[in-house]
Amino acid sequence: MAEQSGAKPVSDKPFLTDVKTLRERARKHIEQGAITEGYSADRDTVVKLLNEALATELICVLRYKRHYFMATGINAESVATEFLQHANEEQGHADLIAQRIVQLGGAPNFSPEGLATRSHAEYVEGNDLIDMIKEDLVAERIAIDSYREMITYVNTDDPTTRRMLEGILAMEEEHADDLVSLLETIAK
Ligand SMILES: [Fe+2]
Ligand SMILES: [Fe+2]
Repeated sequence: MAEQSGAKPVSDKPFLTDVKTLRERARKHIEQGAITEGYSADRDTVVKLLNEALATELICVLRYKRHYFMATGINAESVATEFLQHANEEQGHADLIAQRIVQLGGAPNFSPEGLATRSHAEYVEGNDLIDMIKEDLVAERIAIDSYREMITYVNTDDPTTRRMLEGILAMEEEHADDLVSLLETIAK
């Protein structure tokens, strides 16, 4: 029997779904919006992980805000500016995560009840400027590790969530780097 040219994948690995099947599948369960049959991640687990990340970001916003308003001393102004910028960027991360949770058919958990327990990072007030920066650095390092783990977990099953997490991770790494630079400057 003659093979149809172009229809057979080069390797044994299944290639793309044919157009007819794709179109039929898309018509089913249209109420699920962006979630199609091809979504292979465990949605409940992804939503749960994202809600923990949301709690982490919200705790980080609160901690950075506290530090921003409480920063005093000779280096206070430049450090406070950095705290405020980080607070705003953590808020941006929280918004992105909440939006993705909704796209995945979940509900973002903004409840203050249990917020600190759901969060990976801690809310530590810190006694002085150096203490504050160190606490923020610890929190960033916790966030970096947890985002890296989440990215590994999501792997190729949910590229959109993965891309978002990768973007956030890159920024947390920048934050950690900023804080180390601040510590070095102040120590001089
Ligand atoms: Fe963040
Ligand atoms: Fe951060």
